[in-house]
Amino acid sequence: MKLFADTANLNKIREVAELGVLDGVTTNPSLMAKEGIKGAEEIKRRYIDICNLVDGDVSAEVFATDFEGMIREGKILSSLHENIVVKIPCTKDGIRAVKYFYDNGVRTNCTLVFSAGQALLAAKAGATYLSPFVGRLDDISGDGIELIAQIAEIYDKYDYETEVLAASVRHTMHIVQCMDAGADVATCPPELILALLNHPLTDSGLARFTTDAQKMT
Ligand code: G3P
Repeated sequence: MKLFADTANLNKIREVAELGVLDGVTTNPSLMAKEGIKGAEEIKRRYIDICNLVDGDVSAEVFATDFEGMIREGKILSSLHENIVVKIPCTKDGIRAVKYFYDNGVRTNCTLVFSAGQALLAAKAGATYLSPFVGRLDDISGDGIELIAQIAEIYDKYDYETEVLAASVRHTMHIVQCMDAGADVATCPPELILALLNHPLTDSGLARFTTDAQKMT
């Protein structure tokens, strides 16, 4: 399973990228706003900076909600760097835009997905990635991981090439459950990727090895 960092923060991306295990980055308007980015030029600059930090796909989301606006913004975003994937909401206009970009050789990430029916339309339109939101489904007493498993099985059964990119990942168990459920990618807050390393037996074991190693020097 590929691991993407779900952030627009350059320091956090750099910290995870240094591990050598980062496969890409996803952003959304909320994550961009959180960084205090303002105006079209700063937005473009940030995407280019992110692309220069990570050797993998970087999702850049359109702000427009109408078809023409999504196409206009998506063309600008995809021209910024070859690793940019245009992120488009799973709406009527969004599915049209995904299909338009598929026909024109531009890769897309269809986002804000909460059902297998939406996943079907996105795959048929030719989305490169599909982003079901695990945590937000759990928030309303749904089962985000079950949705990942259901979509992964359907895509497998029908040989759809769209990759299942689990989003809205909230804790490390979600990451492990995404692997079990057959997600192609999990996009996670960077601190969760680092938290995968945490284990008290690793810490105590290392402390003992270090003490014993010192006896031999
Ligand atoms: O990738 C989507 C993600 O950023 C949303 O996460 O925690 O706001 O539901 P959250």
